[in-house]
Amino acid sequence: MPPLTSRPPTTPVLAAETRHAVSVVLNGTPRTGHAHPRLLLSDFLRHELGAHGTRVGCEHGVCGACTVRLDGVAVRACLTLAVQADGRRIDTVEGLAAANQGRMTALQEAFRRHHALQCGFCTAGILMSLTDYLGRNPKPTEEELRDMLSGHLCRCTGYAGIVRAVMDVTGQAGGVPARGPAEGGHV
Ligand code: FES
Ligand code: FES
Repeated sequence: MPPLTSRPPTTPVLAAETRHAVSVVLNGTPRTGHAHPRLLLSDFLRHELGAHGTRVGCEHGVCGACTVRLDGVAVRACLTLAVQADGRRIDTVEGLAAANQGRMTALQEAFRRHHALQCGFCTAGILMSLTDYLGRNPKPTEEELRDMLSGHLCRCTGYAGIVRAVMDVTGQAGGVPARGPAEGGHV
């Protein structure tokens, strides 16, 4: 049996105890902050750059509350290190209206119209995922949409309003019918 050879030691690229400059384009604006190599992107956005619209729930990639777009692609900010975002574009929920002349986007308006949120804790992440997803699949079937939404935990809405909002904004009939107050729904 040949002798085991040890791997050559890897050279650390970033010193663990040093805060490194991280420059991003956040919602179209160049921003620079500092981060230890282990700092999560979610914490960097909230605590270093003051972008509090991104929520932090489970912090291990399950709930989807922290979802942002990194170079256009929806990612879990709690599973991404801040230093990985250096030199890249980040879009958060604050940027949706900012990129729409200060007005809520059609998707946000549909959420409002269809009561697609209650406490709102999950909403920023869902909006960012949907913004990416609908760019790639502009007319999802309800089944496809529910499959996509399975990556987000919402404890309040039962998802019915979210499905209705997306079916509405994509110009499709369907979704779970609205329920009246007697059935536990909203007017
Ligand atoms: S906080 Fe990131 S997935 Fe839950
Ligand atoms: S609206 Fe409360 S968790 Fe979704």
